[in-house]
Amino acid sequence: MSLDDLKSAKPHDRLSAMLADDMTAVNALIRQKMASEHAPRIPEVTAHLVEAGGKRLRPLLTLATARLCGYEGENHHRLAATVEFIHTATLLHDDVVDESAQRRGRPTANLLWDNKSSVLVGDYLFARAFQLMTDTGSLRVLRILSDAAATIAEGEVLQLTAAANIATNETTYLQIVRGKTAALFSAATEVGGVIANRSDEDVRALFEYGDALGIAFQMADDLLDLQGDSTVTGKNVGDDFRERKLTLPIIKAIAAADADERAFWERTIGKGRQDDGDLELALELIKRHGALADTAVEARAWADKAKTAMVKLPDNEIREALIDLADYVVARIN
Ligand code: IPE
Ligand code: IPE
Ligand code: MG
Ligand code: MG
Repeated sequence: MSLDDLKSAKPHDRLSAMLADDMTAVNALIRQKMASEHAPRIPEVTAHLVEAGGKRLRPLLTLATARLCGYEGENHHRLAATVEFIHTATLLHDDVVDESAQRRGRPTANLLWDNKSSVLVGDYLFARAFQLMTDTGSLRVLRILSDAAATIAEGEVLQLTAAANIATNETTYLQIVRGKTAALFSAATEVGGVIANRSDEDVRALFEYGDALGIAFQMADDLLDLQGDSTVTGKNVGDDFRERKLTLPIIKAIAAADADERAFWERTIGKGRQDDGDLELALELIKRHGALADTAVEARAWADKAKTAMVKLPDNEIREALIDLADYVVARIN
């Protein structure tokens, strides 16, 4: 990339360019560890997902924070591959749970193969992630990443039990999002500082950056589920509504609903009786109450929080890209 290209590129593309050698090593490690001697279904399913790309945001976060903190060893490659494996495993499981048909612009593994393959290959990838992080020899990173894996599962289960309940509030929503999404972002950034032996204060700042970035990211993802372009997101529009999930825009619209609107939400989300045109009507009600705009404002505030956390860390081009990344995750909804 030329200097001018670099300045105008998306922040994660800039990070990829700055960390190109590291990313090549991580991709090689991912390819090596997704192999299986005995069960060809494993590399088939994994390759389908891994080769479709994905933004590789989480491994970039680990590589970037490690480098930002002056790390010069090689364990950041293992940790970056670990977080991408955990991410890939949760995507396989998530698409089964959400009954999703499209991921990264391709049919989901549960659709192409079956739910059983997705669950079992997801388990395999989780186990691979744990092997990889054990290779670093650091009990502290093991603790952070295994805590994150537990928290992700907790977030997904909390979301499952809150689905279809139109009394779900914003506090529960935040708990879900912190669990299912932000926990891996914050673990990815925290371990970068930990392997570089940074102070507790710096590690805390990296955690806060990842946590706030992850929350902003999921809020944006929830907006994209309602009004995104599936050719850009690579996922179907309206999955959350169909799955009766109480995402932030819907929670806000329900809080402002009149009696007729409330009846609509009770039927479609509460009882799950959805007809053609209901998604469009839901979107209209959400817009009527400014719930998309209000969600965007909240996402923006979390992105700002992420940026603020970064001020304590060394000022260089990686920090600049991480700060821009916070803006980018919310900019993609405009
Ligand atoms: C998808 O994450 C899961 C969410 C937390 C919304 P990404 O949007 O980072 O997925 P890929 O890896 O780029 O496909
Ligand atoms: C994202 O869940 C978090 C995990 C995969 C654990 P979602 O269900 O909101 O994400 P998408 O929209 O399927 O990517
Ligand atoms: Mg999903
Ligand atoms: Mg889900």
